[in-house]
Amino acid sequence: MSDEHPAGGPTPRRAAGVPGEGGARPRLTAPRIIEMKRRGDPIVVLTAYDFPTARIADQSGVEILLVGDSLGTVVLGYESTLPVTVEDILHHTRAVVRAKPAALVVADMPFMSYQVSDEQALLNAGRLVKEGGADAVKLEGGERVAAAVRRMVEAGIPVMGHLGLTPQSVLAFGGYKVQARGEADQERLLREAHLLEQAGCFSLVLEGIPARLGVQVSRELGIPTIGIGAGVGCDGQVLVTHDLLGLFLGHQPKFVRRYADLGGAMGEAFTRFVADVKARRFPSDAESY
Ligand code: KIV
Repeated sequence: MSDEHPAGGPTPRRAAGVPGEGGARPRLTAPRIIEMKRRGDPIVVLTAYDFPTARIADQSGVEILLVGDSLGTVVLGYESTLPVTVEDILHHTRAVVRAKPAALVVADMPFMSYQVSDEQALLNAGRLVKEGGADAVKLEGGERVAAAVRRMVEAGIPVMGHLGLTPQSVLAFGGYKVQARGEADQERLLREAHLLEQAGCFSLVLEGIPARLGVQVSRELGIPTIGIGAGVGCDGQVLVTHDLLGLFLGHQPKFVRRYADLGGAMGEAFTRFVADVKARRFPSDAESY
């Protein structure tokens, strides 16, 4: 910790090392995430949108908490991520930050919060850091966002890139389809990955691309790649937490591995509660004053 802040942490918001307040792990920072690639240490990323999930994921060893705009589909009930606003991401980033995680908190830049101009992009990225407490921001796209990335990095904001099946382009793609299957598209993705690294990104999400391309991008870049449907050759992996937990009831892509059936567990618990109330078994004497 001492390499970053004389008071013991990069920002004063967390109490790293205090039990229940982020655990004894050192704070994860963007330079530390890059260092993990150099050490060959796989980087674990999960989405988080609320305080308890952030706390549990952090205590489980997750290294990056992404307040993804997947918020729109898995929490807010939208059909795509397009309606998500900067205010939505700010609200949920603050909740995640209140968990005082040792993990790096990355706030996703929603659709139309960075496409209008580089100034708009910088101002919104600044809000996510300044008002939301995020450690970094993420945005989708390659060449078209490289100048905006450079502005953010110059302002001191760590940026995570995102290439491949970028969900904010669902209308242009005509659906959620695996990207870069052809040679020309693969070359373009590779070129854009290099452009994002040159612009200053500290990491790059690769979504919905052939595994072989995931390996190639990961080999060629000095910054870590974080895969989601991009094969095991990436430097880290991310899943949407609601998919992993079995809490999202919509379509599950092939790359999702379900580690729990919390949706089923919730349904069972709610059904038992309904039955207990209907039968006047709840509350008991011990649960009453
Ligand atoms: O919004 C999100 O959750 C994401 C991840 C799937 C990478 O962008």
